[in-house]
Parts: sequence; C-alpha cells; structure tokens
Amino acid sequence: MTATGARPIGTEDEAAASEAVRQMFDAIAPRYDLLNHVLSANIDRLWWRRAARRFRAVLARPQAEILDICCGTGDLTMALLRLRPAGARPILAGDFSRAMLARGALKFGVEARQKPGCGKPRLEAPYAVPLEADALHLPMDDGSLDLIVTAFGFRNLANYAAGLAEFHRKLKPGGQLGILEFSEPGGLVGKAYALYFRRVLPAVGRLLGGQRGPYHYLPASVGAFPAPPEMLAMMRQAGFVDCAWQPYTFGIAGLYTTTRPAGES
Ligand SMILES: C[S@@+](CC[C@H](N)C(=O)[O-])C[C@H]1O[C@@H](n2cnc3c(N)ncnc32)[C@H](O)[C@@H]1O
Repeated sequence: MTATGARPIGTEDEAAASEAVRQMFDAIAPRYDLLNHVLSANIDRLWWRRAARRFRAVLARPQAEILDICCGTGDLTMALLRLRPAGARPILAGDFSRAMLARGALKFGVEARQKPGCGKPRLEAPYAVPLEADALHLPMDDGSLDLIVTAFGFRNLANYAAGLAEFHRKLKPGGQLGILEFSEPGGLVGKAYALYFRRVLPAVGRLLGGQRGPYHYLPASVGAFPAPPEMLAMMRQAGFVDCAWQPYTFGIAGLYTTTRPAGES
C-alpha cells in the first residue's frame, strides 16, 4: 500500500509523525549541511541550482511572491536568490524546525548581506525572510503566491494529499509548484544506489552526526514515498494541471512541476 504521509518509527498518527520529524531536524541541524554535502558528494548543489533555473521566468519578476517551504538550512533558497533581480520582493523561506531555520537565516536573511567583515554591504541584494511555518497550515492568504518550491521536505509531511491541497489553496490561479525529491531508480543504478542508501549512508550519518535515527529514517522514508506515477496522480487529484516529473542524476532525485489552473478563482 502506498504511504499517505511520513510515519517515523514509533508514531501512529499525523500529529505524532509531524512532531517526531520536527524534533529530528532540530537535533541534526548543527551537522545537517556537513552531512548533506558529504553524503551526496555535493551533487545536491547541482540539483538545487537546476531546480531553481526551471523557475527562472517567475523568479525574474521583482514583485512575484515566492515561498520555499521546508527550506531547512536554506540551500535551495540561496539558489533561488541567485536568480532574483536586485531590489526584488524577498523570498519567504519557511520551516517548522526552528534550529534548521536559524541556520538558514544566517545565509539568506537580511543580516547576511550586511555581515561585518564581508566587505561593503550589498543593500540591494535580494534576501529571504525566515518564517516558522508548518507546510500543512501555511500562514499566508489563500491565492497569494506565484510560486511554491520545496526541496527534500515534501517526503517528510505527515499527509501528502493535505500538503498538495494546502499548496493549491495558497497559490494564485496560474501559480506554479516545484517539488524536488529523492526517488528510487530502477536497474543497475538502482541496485548500487539502494546499497549505498540503505547501508553506507546510515553508517556514515551515524558516524558524523552522532545519531542513529535520522539516517535510518532517510532511506526508509524514500522507500515509502510514492513513485513518480503515483505522485503525479496525487497532484492531478489535488486539482493541479501540467503535472510532470524530470529525473535528475539517473532518477536518484527528480523535480515535480505543476500549475494551479489559471481559470480558477
Ligand atoms: C531534508 S530537510 C531539507 C531542507 C532543505 N530544503 C534542503 O534541501 O536541504 C527537510 C526539512 O523539511 C522540514 N519540514 C518537514 N516537515 C515540515 C512541515 N510539515 N512544515 C515545515 N517544515 C517541515 C524539516 O524541518 C527540514 O528542515
């Protein structure tokens, strides 16, 4: 049976699952960036940049209202900011883990462009506003966003259908959604990757991160996440159109893209 949402071990309902995920990210926040880059051999940087480029047109509009939800320590947010024009409306960068968000804000917040010792402050440089927010209960007005993006966070939501419904509600008609997520490739690459993901990654994660739980949860959560055809069907079910999946790096990850129909009110 396909998972309806993330369920870390020992959690039985959505509220407990959400809380367990939040606590897990609060706990690994100090080592998150290091672990991420080591475990992905820095390929994640290419993925964030490639995903951001897919939304170049909307990012170039200074007034566009953009949300990076589950922004964590802010690497996708930074890739998005590179494509924002000077003086553009700040990106909203939301996450429900305060510890992850605090680290992100050091990179993308307004203070980051004014840091002492970093040369002349670039006051016109685009920045992002950190927002403590739950993806399933977003605090902004319905129909207010031009673009919602999320990287490696959607898989952690306690209810995928509710997440898609919330994104649909908050987007303007014609607004776009991008979800960057891991997936499980088939064939030989899939076999090699499964070995790495299920054996090597938890061991290295435990070694560097000092904790067992999160890096066992990671492969388990990818294994339980809907495959691209099911995910695309869920997106259509939520009322989205032009749903597509673009595999990255042999399908280890991929970008889901879709749009809220322009004619809706
Ligand atoms: C694997 S990290 C990804 C962070 C970042 N986007 C990246 O690409 O590195 C997942 C993030 O999703 C956040 N998250 C998970 N469920 C969430 C929810 N319901 N609402 C807000 N943030 C959530 C976690 O706190 C965590 O920071």
